[in-house]
Amino acid sequence: MKIEELLCLGNKVIHKDQTKLLLSTLLNMNPLELSLHLDEIVDSEITTKFQECLNSLKNGEPLQYALKNSNFYGLDFYVDKRVLIPRFETEELVNNTINYLQKYFSKNIKVLDLGTGSGCIGLTLKYLNNDLDITLSDISNEALEVAHINQEKLGLDVKIVYSDLLDNIEDKFDCLISNPPYISYDDKEITDLVLNNEPHQALFADNDGLEYYDKILCKCEKYLNDKYLIAFEIGYNQEEKILNLINKHLKDVKVLTKKDMAGLPRMVFIFKNIEINE
Ligand SMILES: C[S@@+](CC[C@H](N)C(=O)[O-])C[C@H]1O[C@@H](n2cnc3c(N)ncnc32)[C@H](O)[C@@H]1O
Repeated sequence: MKIEELLCLGNKVIHKDQTKLLLSTLLNMNPLELSLHLDEIVDSEITTKFQECLNSLKNGEPLQYALKNSNFYGLDFYVDKRVLIPRFETEELVNNTINYLQKYFSKNIKVLDLGTGSGCIGLTLKYLNNDLDITLSDISNEALEVAHINQEKLGLDVKIVYSDLLDNIEDKFDCLISNPPYISYDDKEITDLVLNNEPHQALFADNDGLEYYDKILCKCEKYLNDKYLIAFEIGYNQEEKILNLINKHLKDVKVLTKKDMAGLPRMVFIFKNIEINE
């Protein structure tokens, strides 16, 4: 079939912008190139893949699961229903963390990505600085399978460990980075697209969404060196409660909250034995 015919076919099922995005991704073109090659014949393998993706989207699946791909920090990650689809705000967490690691630490830096899911956080850090010693951990063996696929795909040397929070962690780290589940069970804002597709183990947490921050902060110092950085992604309305948890569990730390591009406080950085100059 021609590009034009596939676009028409898609537009009957999904929004025309989604059709363009889907087909341009499958053909490895940008949407403008599609418009310039409307008469081009698409080979049968991609035509079949396009039709399969259309069916998935028609059935209410997110585009990233249909494509089995999510772009994170410019890297292509394999994703499917076993893992959370990486989010834009998590790129900002990674970006700030790599800057802090470069600024405040020197060599042999050990980083634990706790609740790694697809591996997007830890693998991107490793991609950005190959000298980092990275451990990815998760309680979901299914998620760890996906992290392993991405490790191989990106050709990066990291450790992958099954662990319920810190239970199986044996090392000590300079940095603990985590985007834990933080959505409260009675959250009314979560969309059906998320609720019906993404793993609930990756989304929800007790105690108003604070369960995992509380549990991690309570035990983390045993797994961290004297000088450390903790980097958390947080829910947009959780800043104050998380600052209280930090006060409850940690002594003599400095804390910075950062806003994301939307102007919401979405990242918390905790520094111990580090003279920060922002
Ligand atoms: C919000 S997702 C984050 C995934 C990925 N790091 C990202 O940013 O896209 C939270 C992850 O924490 C994992 N998780 C949930 N409970 C956990 C636990 N008790 N111990 C370790 N990981 C857990 C989930 O399986 C999920 O992969």
